[in-house]
This record gives sequence, structure tokens and C-alpha cells, in this order.
Amino acid sequence: MTLLLRNEAETLELGAKLFRSMKQPLRFYLYGDLGSGKTTLVRGFLKAGGYCGAVKSPTFTLVEEYQFPEWRLVHLDLYRLADPKELEWIGIREYFEGQCVSFIEWPDRGDGFLPQPDLSVRLSHHGEGRIAVLEPRGLAGHELVKELS
Ligand SMILES: Nc1ncnc2c1ncn2[C@@H]1O[C@H](COP(=O)(O)OP(=O)(O)O)[C@@H](O)[C@H]1O
Ligand SMILES: [Mg+2]
Repeated sequence: MTLLLRNEAETLELGAKLFRSMKQPLRFYLYGDLGSGKTTLVRGFLKAGGYCGAVKSPTFTLVEEYQFPEWRLVHLDLYRLADPKELEWIGIREYFEGQCVSFIEWPDRGDGFLPQPDLSVRLSHHGEGRIAVLEPRGLAGHELVKELS
């Protein structure tokens, strides 16, 4: 599924749609250059989920967590990860336990140490806007894309 996102508001809206269409906690891999809108997408998702605070990019902290009454969101940005083994050292597996929605920026850098995604989103620059390519990686991901279209 390919979508044109003409401005920031449309990236936020795609994030909100992902939230509204989701029937169970899913795992998202986010691909795309610096500044392609990956963190913006997570912001839209969190806002739709009822989070009102600031959404920091986990570029330096590696991970940011958001606790909701019934679920949790884990936002990872692996851009600065030097060695995927570091994920083991920070106890990465525990981050994904329970009712956890996760968004992982630069998943390639954690290769071999991350659980598989349900959906991957590839963002790229397109004129002033962005293109998003959504690719399901399993049943739950397929259902989400069907719901979106
Ligand atoms: N569809 C869009 N069109 C134009 N600008 C966008 C769009 N989506 C996001 N942006 C802008 O791109 C910039 C970088 O976004 P960010 O989400 O931090 O990128 P990334 O996490 O991929 O590095 C932000 O200034 C944001 O407002
Ligand atoms: Mg980012």
C-alpha cells in the first residue's frame, strides 16, 4: 500500500489511522532517511491514543516508553546503535513483553536481536512531502492494511 503524505499533518494523520485501525498491539518497523517523518508518525499515533505530552525522539536515549492504562508504547531509534549486541545488554526482550505496541526506527541496525514486525513502513522524500509504503509482514499486519484501505 502506497500513500502520498503531502505535509506533516498527513503523516500525523497516518499515525492516528494506524492507532484507530489496530485491533491488537502490533510491532512496526520504520524505514527511511533522517528527516523522512518516522518520529512524526509515532507522534500522530500517540496523540490519537490520548497522549498529550511531548514526544521526544529516542535518537540519544535509544528507547522511550509511554504507559497507558491498558497498554504500553515502546519507541526505539537504533540510528546510533554501534553493535546490535547492545540490545541484549539493555535487556531488549523485556521491553516487548505484555500489551506492547512498538515502533522501531532503523531496525536494520538491530538485525538478529529484534522480534519480527507485523508491518513495515518505508518513508521517503517526495518533493515537499513524503511517500509511505506500508508492507504487512503477517496476518495481523494484513488485517491492519485492509482496515486502512
Ligand atoms: N508528509 C510530510 N511532508 C513534509 N514534511 C514532513 C512530513 N512528515 C513529516 N515532516 C517533517 O519532517 C521533519 C522530520 O521528521 P521526523 O519525524 O523527525 O523524521 P525522522 O524521525 O524520520 O528522522 C519534521 O520537521 C516533520 O515536520
Ligand atoms: Mg526519528
